Amino acid sequence: MIYLDNGATSLPKPRSVIDAAAWSIGHLASPGRGSSGASEEAENLLYELRIAAGKMFSCPPQQVVLTSSATHGLNIALKSLAGPGDRVVISGMEHNAVVRPLFSTGADVQVARGHLFDSKKLLEDFDRLLKPGTSACVVTHVSNVFGWILPVEEIAVLCRMRGIPLVVDASQSAGSLEVNMEALGAAFIAMPGHKGLLGPQGTGFLLCGYPAKTLMEGGTGSLSAQREMPDFLPDRLESGTHNVPGAAGLLAGMRYLRSVGIRTVSEKEKELCEVLVRQLKTIPEVEVFYGEDQAGTVSFRVRNRDCVLLATRLAEQGIALRAGLHCAPLAHETAGTLETGTIRASFGPFNTRQDGKELCRRLEIILERPEFEEAVTDCR
Ligand code: ALA
Repeated sequence: MIYLDNGATSLPKPRSVIDAAAWSIGHLASPGRGSSGASEEAENLLYELRIAAGKMFSCPPQQVVLTSSATHGLNIALKSLAGPGDRVVISGMEHNAVVRPLFSTGADVQVARGHLFDSKKLLEDFDRLLKPGTSACVVTHVSNVFGWILPVEEIAVLCRMRGIPLVVDASQSAGSLEVNMEALGAAFIAMPGHKGLLGPQGTGFLLCGYPAKTLMEGGTGSLSAQREMPDFLPDRLESGTHNVPGAAGLLAGMRYLRSVGIRTVSEKEKELCEVLVRQLKTIPEVEVFYGEDQAGTVSFRVRNRDCVLLATRLAEQGIALRAGLHCAPLAHETAGTLETGTIRASFGPFNTRQDGKELCRRLEIILERPEFEEAVTDCR
């Protein structure tokens, strides 16, 4: 299989990630829930993980909250900041992990839409919409559909000048681009552990720079006599037994990444994406979405062909992609691709130039065949 779906989850994982997760299942107990060496070792593991994340993202380790996903972290962040009628400004590239929780709060959501790959226009829209009294601004660092790197630093400046809390969704950037909590001065940054950070699914971080409300309550292994949740982090937001195997794998993934270097990964992914864009542009029926500020992800569609069916045909040829709306209908609406969806290729640290070349070669072979006859029922 040629895996070009790292936007969904990174694959393969480094061997050290698999080994660390497997070892922890056989050897570690629950952190803060026992006096055994196995419990203490698990506690130390979580501590090391927070230290590693704190260093990587310039955040005090006690403000690094372990979550089960970026969605989990975003829910905590958004429900801490927004309630019924509160004005929240989001970019036109947001994923349903932002749109759906905000919708559920009853907030008045305003979209700084911009135009695809036009950072200047996007900043103008944010500048216009970020009025005093806005409860939160939410922006994805990199679009999961188009790989557009949004101007988060400039948006952060607008937010700081107006005293508006900023939430950054770093789902597609953590591990591939620099994410700096201190420099951004963000209220919250959420990210998964299983994408660019190369850890297992079921892991993530929420970096907290703002008082957070609990999404759920329960045992924390601290202040057990008290009915209320502890008011200090990370305990306040981490009730229930931790995902220790996930944490072990994630720490190994981050150590692997550190040994390679995030800059090396981002340069490689960007280059692979540029090469693929050039190759796709030579196929007459293909429409490629690309721009200057693009990470290692590219979307395209093919004239008169259904994206999901085409991706299925490519999967049969051993090419793993993701097609449809990518859980981000707002991004497709902004780009004008809501009716058709797109096919997305997303690179990871283990891809090569040959992978993109093979995608194009097999795509051309498929396009030589007549139009598909299957009925299209759902564009997911
Ligand atoms: N949001 C992830 C993706 O873009 C799952 O595929």
